[in-house]
Amino acid sequence: MARKLISDPAWVKTPEQIEGIRRAGVLNTALLDHVSTFVRSGVTTAQIDEVVYDFTVSHGGIPATLNYEGFPCSCCTSVNEVVCHGIPNEYERLRTGDIINIDVTTILDGFYADASRMFVVGGKTSKAKQALVDCAYECLQIGMRAAQPYGWVGDIGYAIARHARGHGYGVVKDYTGHGVGLDIHEEPYIPHYGQKGTGYQLLPGMVFTIEPMINMGDWRVFVDSDDDWTVISWDEKPSAQWEHTFLMTENGLEILSY
Ligand code: MF3
Ligand code: CO
Ligand code: CO
Repeated sequence: MARKLISDPAWVKTPEQIEGIRRAGVLNTALLDHVSTFVRSGVTTAQIDEVVYDFTVSHGGIPATLNYEGFPCSCCTSVNEVVCHGIPNEYERLRTGDIINIDVTTILDGFYADASRMFVVGGKTSKAKQALVDCAYECLQIGMRAAQPYGWVGDIGYAIARHARGHGYGVVKDYTGHGVGLDIHEEPYIPHYGQKGTGYQLLPGMVFTIEPMINMGDWRVFVDSDDDWTVISWDEKPSAQWEHTFLMTENGLEILSY
């Protein structure tokens, strides 16, 4: 996408919509805080999913991924070489040294917010996996700083990919950040690679995620044919991801969920 594109004014949320998404964001963040206390060696990803469901529903929310295009669970749990869209299940037990991404999208009063975090099970992993987790977090921070009001979507991916590739890591291209708020995935889509000054313009009032998926090895991925959901790195080396929901303001990004 080697040019500048005019954003649809309909992508700009109204103040009322922003208030609703802000409230969904607060609940979604509280959910990840709550879930984080359950991540430990011996826990199954199905147990994590149950915690997500119970907390969300008891706070008046709906887990957006549950039955979304047939997805069977209230969150995605992506362990080690799983890049994203891992399905929680009762056979998968976390072990010390695993790295896991827990990704939650919450609907509150019809408004959506989306965030994910990495967790190191048992608090200790290999130097290589810890460095990957840290770099993926840096990529999100760097992408956040690159997103300027009246700037361009390509500015974000350019900055992220430069940082990740500088560490020798692969940047996943098949899945992107996205607009969010009135639906789970909206325009504009936000690739985590690209060229400065290209793509759609970032306008105040736009709400979107940045969620870089960074692979220790090859950037390519495949989808597990057993379930048609689980996305795995091509070389089955570890992958890490962090995601926030943001509001673009006249002064830069505000975090709505983390
Ligand atoms: N929360 C994911 C995202 O960041 C969406 C997951 S859709 C699912 O876009 F169906 F895989 F759960
Ligand atoms: Co998400
Ligand atoms: Co997302």
